[in-house]
Amino acid sequence: MRKFWENPPAAPAPVAAGVLPAAAEIRCGTRVLRIEPATVLAPMSGLTDTVFRRFIRHVAELSAAPGAAAPAALPFGGCGLIMTEFTSADGLIRSEKVARRYLSFAADEHPIAAQLFGSDAAALAEAARLVEAMGFDAVDLNLGCPAKKVVKCNGGSGLLRDLPLLGRLFAAIRAAVSIPFTVKYRAGWDERSLVHVELAKLAEASGVNALALHARTRAQGYSGPAQWDWIGEVKRAVGIPVWGNGDVRRPEDAAALIAHTGCDGIMIGRAAASNPWIFQQIESWRRTGAYAEPGEAERGRLLLAYFQRLAEAPLPGGLGKMKQFAAWFTHGVREGGSLRQAIYSARSEAEVLERVAAFFARTREGLSVA
Ligand SMILES: Cc1cc2nc3c(=O)[nH]c(=O)nc-3n(C[C@H](O)[C@H](O)[C@H](O)COP(=O)(O)O)c2cc1C
Repeated sequence: MRKFWENPPAAPAPVAAGVLPAAAEIRCGTRVLRIEPATVLAPMSGLTDTVFRRFIRHVAELSAAPGAAAPAALPFGGCGLIMTEFTSADGLIRSEKVARRYLSFAADEHPIAAQLFGSDAAALAEAARLVEAMGFDAVDLNLGCPAKKVVKCNGGSGLLRDLPLLGRLFAAIRAAVSIPFTVKYRAGWDERSLVHVELAKLAEASGVNALALHARTRAQGYSGPAQWDWIGEVKRAVGIPVWGNGDVRRPEDAAALIAHTGCDGIMIGRAAASNPWIFQQIESWRRTGAYAEPGEAERGRLLLAYFQRLAEAPLPGGLGKMKQFAAWFTHGVREGGSLRQAIYSARSEAEVLERVAAFFARTREGLSVA
């Protein structure tokens, strides 16, 4: 999995912040789910658990200097919708442990969507019903995961090769729930079998209420730039809201993607881990024409706050998650290489916390970690 951009796409032509939409709406019968601002945290397995999602919604408070006036609160921390990691429909209906581990969420996470994967209509329908009963605001079907073990069972991007089956899955999920039903997908199995427009039309005709397109094929993995043209093609083909996803790293990219495609909002994945302020920045830029870049002290406070929350959370794998997050976040930190090493070689969560605190205390004094 590519964690950051080895060959970052050329910076898009500058576009004014005014193009960014203030909000979007997902309509489902008489229900309206308002997404304000029109940005979505992409589902990322192993990362976007309840701790990370709440962290994204509270970035401004968590990185503010102690005793400083509370930063002006942006609605939903600047991120209008958050999504769970993908969760197996079969696993969910078989085990309560799966529900606890992947689908726990707190009251301040609304609006929140649960993402499911699977290829059995009855299991997906049952899982979607559970998602609705748990209080999620929307249920999402994953048609993008390229992982072999998911594709082997026809889940994730494997389904892109079987539109008739997809039609049956859409119908089953739609009939099972009254909350909005959304689909996140890749453009096709490979360049020779693109289905982004056909799938979008099928989804709309089946009662799907919104789409998010990660503008790559399964064969592409994460290589090469996302093909934003495909997002524009989908937007022009359907009337339901379309979220554009792929390679948005800065507020300027978000505006460029909206201008290029006319899509209704932006979904952001990897940049949320390397720059958790990205949603705040987009919304500040839209409102005021300016946004702040976090300094070293803010980065240190935010990293410690996130790790403290991970250490306190009743979720398994906290140490692994700290190391994974460090791989993303420390690329924006001065002397990040030594910070990464300090975190990678720690043997406990407590040790990570000590080392991170020491690193930022020393760099503030102009020293580096030994
Ligand atoms: C570590 C990681 C885990 C991911 N897990 C999921 C997932 O569970 N469900 C999903 O639909 N997409 C998943 N994705 C894909 C992202 O949601 C997103 O589509 C992709 O990273 C492109 O967006 P970006 O350029 O903003 O990162 C994952 C991506 C990464 C990097």
